[in-house]
Amino acid sequence: MADWQTLSDRVDNVAPSATLAVDAKAKAMKAAGVDVIGFGAGEPNFPTPDYIVEAAANACRDPKNHRYTPTPGLPPLRKAVAAKTLRDSGYEVSPDQVVITNGGKQAVYEALQVIVNPGDEVIIPTPYWTTYPEAVKLAGGKPVEVFSDAEHGFEPSVEALEAARTPRTKAIMVNSPSNPTGAVWSEETMRAVGEWAVEHHVWVLSDEIYEHLTYDGVKTAYIGAVVPEVRDQLIVLNGVAKTYAMTGWRVGWLIGPEPVAKAAAKLQGHMTSNVADVSQQAALTAVAGPLDAVSQMRAAFDKRRKTIVAALNDIPGVTCRTPKGAFYAFADVRELLGRPVGPKGSVAKTSADLAALLLDEGHVAAVPGEAFGAPGFLRFSYALADDDLAEGMRRFKVWVG
Ligand SMILES: Cc1ncc(COP(=O)(O)O)c(C=O)c1O
Repeated sequence: MADWQTLSDRVDNVAPSATLAVDAKAKAMKAAGVDVIGFGAGEPNFPTPDYIVEAAANACRDPKNHRYTPTPGLPPLRKAVAAKTLRDSGYEVSPDQVVITNGGKQAVYEALQVIVNPGDEVIIPTPYWTTYPEAVKLAGGKPVEVFSDAEHGFEPSVEALEAARTPRTKAIMVNSPSNPTGAVWSEETMRAVGEWAVEHHVWVLSDEIYEHLTYDGVKTAYIGAVVPEVRDQLIVLNGVAKTYAMTGWRVGWLIGPEPVAKAAAKLQGHMTSNVADVSQQAALTAVAGPLDAVSQMRAAFDKRRKTIVAALNDIPGVTCRTPKGAFYAFADVRELLGRPVGPKGSVAKTSADLAALLLDEGHVAAVPGEAFGAPGFLRFSYALADDDLAEGMRRFKVWVG
């Protein structure tokens, strides 16, 4: 490209989504006739429940739903999100605090656009969901990684947060249950982080999209419930994607203090306007309805979780702690690096190399830890069919040899 055609620094500074890239490569290999088992995508393999699809189909047939809706969302849906927050998180929010977004991803993006000024720092507990640092950068902010390891359950200590805090610290991202680790922060950790944020006037962005996917009797601790004083500086990010198997419908939301919600709606008014009306009607039926479907999915995921963790630990050189939430197994593969692996004796220097080799030679797609700020790990989504899971693990083991 000629000089005058160079793209913006803003977009040049953004890394592509590694999770989407792995998924795209696996799908391209499949399309070319290669039988790939994909552990890359973070989406339930279940269909959206019938009654939700039915509500959408009915909404589709009614011309009154063929129009723009208010930018921050259909009033009944905003009300239902407020009611759901009281039901699940145990505290009250007003529908005026809710903005319906194009998926949880847009909620993350808007929240950061609304609060971050150029040079502001956002603390990101690491391993993190791959989008967070890029969304911080797109807002002109500086991502500040605070790493916590598997031995500490991937939960950050307040000492580590405090060591990372500067006068420019504007916000902290909280994501529990976590993508990619499956960690569910304890109530004590939530309390400590919430109190630290209150004391130091740090915004808390709490991504609760996996709230209903927890196992072994562990429950999601909601920071806004555990530390009520944090609510004036709390922005909750959530959506229907994972709870109701609705990734493709693109409905999420943010809940913040009213000025934040108003600012997010103002921004959205110039970006995407409202979320598709029919999708909002489907989300309304989902959010206002029962949690039976997610209970069924949770039972299926729980079984797969046990299977995959056992299978990973059975592969020489791989160790994986049992995650308590979401649908990801985050395996430590450092022992497989720097030495010959696979039938061809290939040497992977990094987990990114290892993921590439595993895909090319073993036909198994996993996302390298580099995508989450944690080199040396591979993330396996276990939201895939039982047979595929078993076959993928068999291939991984055979490939390692
Ligand atoms: C932690 C986390 N937050 C938010 C999202 C966004 O989900 P969506 O935009 O599909 O609602 C995802 C999806 O993978 C996620 O893993």
